[in-house]
Amino acid sequence: MKYQKVEEVKLILEEDQKQITNLQKLNDLKIKYLGKKGLITELNQYIKDIPSEERKEFGLCVNELRNEFNDFYETKKNLFETEILNQKLEKEAIDITLPSTKTKRGSKHPVNRMIERIEDLFVSMGYDVVSGPELETDEFCFERLNLPKGHPARDMQDSFYITDEYLLRTQTSAVQARTLLANKDNPKPIREIVPGKTYRKEDDATHSHQFCQCEGLVIDKKENHVSLADLKGTLEIFVKEVIGDNLDLRFRPSYFPFTEPSYEVDVTCFKCGGKGCPLCKDTGWIEILGAGIVHPNVLRMNGYNPDEWGGFAFGPGLERLTMFRYGIPDMRYLYTNDIRFLEEFDRKDDSDAIK
Ligand code: DAH
Repeated sequence: MKYQKVEEVKLILEEDQKQITNLQKLNDLKIKYLGKKGLITELNQYIKDIPSEERKEFGLCVNELRNEFNDFYETKKNLFETEILNQKLEKEAIDITLPSTKTKRGSKHPVNRMIERIEDLFVSMGYDVVSGPELETDEFCFERLNLPKGHPARDMQDSFYITDEYLLRTQTSAVQARTLLANKDNPKPIREIVPGKTYRKEDDATHSHQFCQCEGLVIDKKENHVSLADLKGTLEIFVKEVIGDNLDLRFRPSYFPFTEPSYEVDVTCFKCGGKGCPLCKDTGWIEILGAGIVHPNVLRMNGYNPDEWGGFAFGPGLERLTMFRYGIPDMRYLYTNDIRFLEEFDRKDDSDAIK
C-alpha cells in the first residue's frame, strides 16, 4: 500500500481482529477504529500533508479500509448474535414430554341441558322462546293472572317481596300476561315457551328457594279450536322427548286461578316403573306440571277477547324433569355445586339431544 499511515493502521487492525471473541469486544473494536478518535477516523487528519493531486486516492484508501472494517464488523456481529440466540433457545427449551398441569374443565349444568332440550323440541314445533324479568311486579305475577290481592290461592306461593309492588317471580306464568298484554292492540296467535328461574320462600329436602320452570302458552282464534286434546297431545310429545319413552301420563283435575279447567299432570314413577315405591309414595305416579285451558278472565284482563280467542297453558318444574331424565335421586345435588357431581355430566355425551 502506498500510504504508510493507512498501512500501519491496517496491520494493527489485523492483529486486533484475531482477539475478537465476543460481541462486547467487537463493539469495543468499533469504537477503537471508527469512534470519534478512532484509528481509521483519525487517518483523515493526515490528508493535509498529502499533495493535493493524491488526496483523492488517499481518501479512497481510507474508505476501503473503513469498508473492510464494516464488513468484518457485520459478519462477526451476525455470528455472535446467532450464537447468543442459540444458547438462549437451548436453555429455554421446553420438554413437551413432561406431564402438564391439569386444568379443570367446566361442564353444562344438567338443568341447563334440560332447558336446551326443551327449547329444541318446542322450536321444532314452531314455538318462540321468550323470557321475562325475574324481579316481577305483583300485577304481572298475580293480578293479571286472575289472582287479585288477598286471593287465597296466593298462599300456595310463598313469595319474596322486595317492596309492596315488587317480588322475585314465583312462577314463569307471569310472562303469559306480559305477552298477551304486549299484543293487546293487535291480538294474534301465540305459541311460546318461557324457561327461567323462579323463587319461593321455601327450603327443605324437596324444595329450594330458587328453582326453574318452563311456561308454555298457546293461544289461537276460537274457530281453530285449540282444545284439551291438543294440550294432551303436546304434553305427550313433551314427556316422550324430554324424559323418555314408555311413560304414561295422567291428568288429574286441579285448581289454578289462571286456567279453567285445570289439571295436574303425573307421569309413571321413573324409579319403580309404576309399581309403587317410597319416591312416589306408593302411588306409582309423580306429578310434573300444572296445566289447563286459559281462563277467560286472563284473556280479558290482558287485551284478548275470550269470545274470539282461546288456548292452553302449562308449567312444568325443571328440576324434577332433570332428575327423571338423568336418574338423579336428590334435588339438592343440583344446587350444592359439588364438582364431582358436575363432572359426571361432563362424561355423558350430548348425542341424545334432540336434533
Ligand atoms: N304456575 C303454576 C305453578 O307454579 C304452574 C302452572 C299451572 C302453570 C297451570 C300453568 C298452568 O301455565 O296452566 O304452580
